[in-house]
Amino acid sequence: MRIRKDLLKCFSVSLSIVLLYSSMFAGKVSAGLTDDQKKEIGTEITTIYRAARGVIAKNQKLINDATKGDKGLSADAVIAATKVNYKKATGNDFKMADKSTLKGQTQAALIDAIKQVMDNAQDLINEKGKGLKGFLPAIFAKQMGDGFNKNIAGKAHIKLTAPMNYVRNRANRPDKWEANVIETMFKDSGYEKNKVYTENAKHKGKDAFRLILPEYYKQACLNCHGEPKGAIDITGGKKEGGKLGELGGAISFVIYN
Ligand code: HEC
Repeated sequence: MRIRKDLLKCFSVSLSIVLLYSSMFAGKVSAGLTDDQKKEIGTEITTIYRAARGVIAKNQKLINDATKGDKGLSADAVIAATKVNYKKATGNDFKMADKSTLKGQTQAALIDAIKQVMDNAQDLINEKGKGLKGFLPAIFAKQMGDGFNKNIAGKAHIKLTAPMNYVRNRANRPDKWEANVIETMFKDSGYEKNKVYTENAKHKGKDAFRLILPEYYKQACLNCHGEPKGAIDITGGKKEGGKLGELGGAISFVIYN
């Protein structure tokens, strides 16, 4: 009888230890992170995202060169060039954070997404005799975002969007929160250029930390997004009538609370 009592006590102590530990660790990896830490992760992920898209932009002529077969833009080459752009943007070497942290997990999810997109794109971009391939920075960015969202499902989310009146691909339309920030803040002449906006707000019905970063049309963008409005660009799409320096897009990032 005594033994059974001891066993029971031992069992209940172990059970409470297990319960204590699971209550500490069962939560999301985002649990316990401050808004500043979430903002830092958002800044990290949007920086890698832009660095990778910049590699595609810089190599657009090469990608569209009909005289060349192999373009040398393997997944490894694009990831290496992304890290160079990352260093240019931040002054720091790209460093993977520990895989047990949300930062490490989101970094890995994005690097894996770049790898998947580039592996898939090899046949398309290496096709000799074909010029325009439709492998544009925004299309690469969409695919990279979709891959990231799949890899990190339920924890974080990224999307390239634009002001509602400038959206080409309906899948990139801003949600209510994004549209509101774009229209009432980013388009306000007093809003500081390039300033990130963050807020705790719902995303797809779930409580989340949200971050959004404005982007502006540069001269090169206007070949497709500029004037005259409605004219056909080289991709076959209609130009938006955008102007130099005007708000042309936004990168939206989410961490679920
Ligand atoms: C060669 C033409 C071309 C150039 C140059 C170009 N874009 Fe685009 N852009 C497109 C096309 C086509 C899409 C639609 C992509 C899709 O179908 O997903 C697009 C999509 C976008 C989107 C996503 C929202 C949407 O409309 O679907 C943003 C933001 C964007 N472009 C911004 C820019 C910026 C900023 C630049 C310059 C740095 C630029 N683009 C340069 C053709 C171009």
